Amino acid sequence: MNIAEIRKSFPNIKAGQIYFNHASIGPLSVPVKETINSYFESRSLNLKQSFDVFLEADKSAKLRLGGMLNCRPNQLSWIGNVSDAMNVLVNGIDWGAGDRVILNDIEFPANVYPFLNLKSKGVEVDLVKSRNGIIKLEDIFSAVTEKTKLISISLVQFLSGFRTDIIELGMFCKEHGIIFSVDAIQAAGVVNTDVQEANVDFLAGGAHKWLMSLTGTSYLYISDKLNRIFKLSNVGWLSVKDPWHILDYNLELKPDAEKFQTGTMNVTGIVALNKSLEMFESVGFNNIEKLVLANTNYFIEKLTGIGIEPLLKNLPNKNKAGIVSFYVEKPERVLLSLQKKNIIGEIREGLIRMSPHFYNTKKEIKTVVNSISELI
Ligand SMILES: Cc1ncc(COP(=O)(O)O)c(C=O)c1O
Repeated sequence: MNIAEIRKSFPNIKAGQIYFNHASIGPLSVPVKETINSYFESRSLNLKQSFDVFLEADKSAKLRLGGMLNCRPNQLSWIGNVSDAMNVLVNGIDWGAGDRVILNDIEFPANVYPFLNLKSKGVEVDLVKSRNGIIKLEDIFSAVTEKTKLISISLVQFLSGFRTDIIELGMFCKEHGIIFSVDAIQAAGVVNTDVQEANVDFLAGGAHKWLMSLTGTSYLYISDKLNRIFKLSNVGWLSVKDPWHILDYNLELKPDAEKFQTGTMNVTGIVALNKSLEMFESVGFNNIEKLVLANTNYFIEKLTGIGIEPLLKNLPNKNKAGIVSFYVEKPERVLLSLQKKNIIGEIREGLIRMSPHFYNTKKEIKTVVNSISELI
């Protein structure tokens, strides 16, 4: 599919909307919506067929996610949301009193509370201070002590859009024997998220933002190395090797990441995500990154031209992804006025956060910046 065809498949674009809010939730394309409807049709008419649809989508979506993340499908597990994935992580590690975790002070709380909750086990959290939305690797490195057991970070920060160089950070963690965890929900499907290249031990992401699918459909990745020492806290009937000998009660766990899938999954979400990923594959993840960065750089340039200082101004491409955030006076008034023109962005923590995707255009960005210029 080319970009023009892709744009035609989004009803909100056809209706004249400029949608720059993928960091919150992505719109559903017509093919994704039709796939969901047809799955519902089979759920009410032909249940055998609906199960086959699920099996096929499950296999295909994991292959596609594996392609996106450069991992094997059996290193991936479905899970409800990123928060649940982070809880799987914290509960699977053998913590000792005095162990420390490094986060930072602008992380989304899904990647914070599960670690703070380890206090009762004597685990302490170090919050590295960000600098105007930027997290310097040197600040993370200097927070490390010999008790640091794990570092967790969002590849792309929800608020500032800052992209951490996870290749360098992952190498550091590997060299220091630190478990490396990545929240990729603001990055996967937008910019390179290669778990091998970055030596990632654990990663979580979700379908409803940049991957433009349904809520309640998230995934986790676990490296073979971490999987070998991982203690499974939650088990269910689908965690075992032979779930269909139902009454055997043989608690022999699946060796791979599928053991994290404790029971019946969000089938609709998986079917929808599989269809959405088809579109991403047709463009290619490398091309998507190029298109997203071209949009981000153009957006930053245009905003700078009207006297606004986006947080990521002056940063190299390796620290940027799809989010462009900036301060204006009375941001609520600005956002509301934009909404009246059918331009959709977001406010987070007093910042206007815009998040166009690869299929958004320079023309749309120009329209948005012109509208902002009239308002400030
Ligand atoms: C960085 C980041 N992580 C996680 C989430 C979502 O967490 P959950 O899937 O638990 O709702 C968001 C946004 O909602 C986010 O921006």
